[in-house]
Amino acid sequence: MKLVVVGTGYVGLVSGACLADVGHTVICVDVDALKIEKLKQGVMPIYEPGLEDVVKRGVESGRLLFTTNLAEAMEGARIAMIAVGTPSSPDGSVNMSYVESAARNIGKAMKSYTVVVDKSTVPVGTAEWVASVIHSETEQEFDVVSVPEFLREGHAVQDFMQPHRIVIGSESEKATADMMELFASFDCPKVVMDARSAELTKYAANSFLAMKIGFINEIASLCERLGANVDEVAKGIGLDPRIGAAFLKAGLGWGGSCFPKDVRALKNLGDGLGVPLPIINASLDMNTMARQRVVDRLVSLFDGSIEGKKIAVLGVAFKPNTDDTRESAAIALMQILKEKGADVHVYDPIAVFYPALHGFEVAVGESPYHIAQGAHAVILATEWSMFTDLDLKRIKQVMADDVLVDARNFFEPQRVKEVGFRYLRVGNK
Ligand code: UDX
Repeated sequence: MKLVVVGTGYVGLVSGACLADVGHTVICVDVDALKIEKLKQGVMPIYEPGLEDVVKRGVESGRLLFTTNLAEAMEGARIAMIAVGTPSSPDGSVNMSYVESAARNIGKAMKSYTVVVDKSTVPVGTAEWVASVIHSETEQEFDVVSVPEFLREGHAVQDFMQPHRIVIGSESEKATADMMELFASFDCPKVVMDARSAELTKYAANSFLAMKIGFINEIASLCERLGANVDEVAKGIGLDPRIGAAFLKAGLGWGGSCFPKDVRALKNLGDGLGVPLPIINASLDMNTMARQRVVDRLVSLFDGSIEGKKIAVLGVAFKPNTDDTRESAAIALMQILKEKGADVHVYDPIAVFYPALHGFEVAVGESPYHIAQGAHAVILATEWSMFTDLDLKRIKQVMADDVLVDARNFFEPQRVKEVGFRYLRVGNK
């Protein structure tokens, strides 16, 4: 099948490249000419393991093309996928201006029956709204369907190629048949439902996972008081298949481009409709508390003040294997540390552009040892696997004091104990 993907961010680029990899002809369109030029040369705009290879294969096969010209790309395309950003507006609502512009341009360029696929995470009712926008631009016959994405950054290619399910929000038999053909090579349940349910499924999935993390962080706060170990409790409950072991890692809470935005969007939806959503609200609160608790425990180790103390933070990406720092818990943590007067230094193996991007003054070091020099405390904020090989003895030798805060419960406690740190773990006394 021939399809056009509008937007070459995480979702659009991964979806386009993977669909070309399974045999479709995909034209990826973006308004950013520089990004398109770089993609043509094989330069990835994001750090995503495995993506470069899939893009390279697609380009070499001639099935994956990049352009800024949507009208030309639409020639002979049966499917137009909208995969543009839907960032949070300052009031917490979803900014739909990119979706609207994509829908309008697709409508203008449509020459024959087209299935328009909403891939971006969008508010419930968007498929109907997108249809009305397109209607105002074209006389052609078309259908709008919602096929939400469940990709995790850092595992996006694998998640696309081996999905647990594909949700198809479609009320048109013709469009459903096209979706079945588009996703024929993917061996997983394909769940067909109305578009509104599909749109809500995406928010519900992310909010449920965020809630699970919030729950284990809540249990962690009890463990800290009771002398229990949250990792053991997580293991103990996670083996029950009704609960499941995934997303029960206590730490600094969730960040990234999806969970914060989607949980907030659901909260706003409830507020707007007057539907109480106490669990969603508690998830947001718990996430803020997770960071605050780590700082409070650190402060208590320094007799109530970290003013002027040098704090070295390891990791700034919102999770390992990505260069994405959007709503990173590490950043939220650093902001609290700065507010308390600490001298904050940070190291991340990949997300090195962080301070420039966020306009937030912290010193960026070239290695963990470099930032640990003269530090009173080191905090592990993002669990990059490279930190497994840290020479903890060397870290401690160059520090001015001896506090190691393991905000992701990453290190082997025995190893840390042997080096002689004052060691804090989440959900451990
Ligand atoms: C998430 C969803 O997993 C994905 O299905 C959806 O399409 C987009 O949002 P992503 O944002 O890439 O994916 O990250 P994910 O791996 O889910 O982690 C989200 C956040 O939760 C990270 O900040 C991570 O550190 C945190 N997390 C995750 C925990 O604190 N504990 C856990 O047990 C799991």
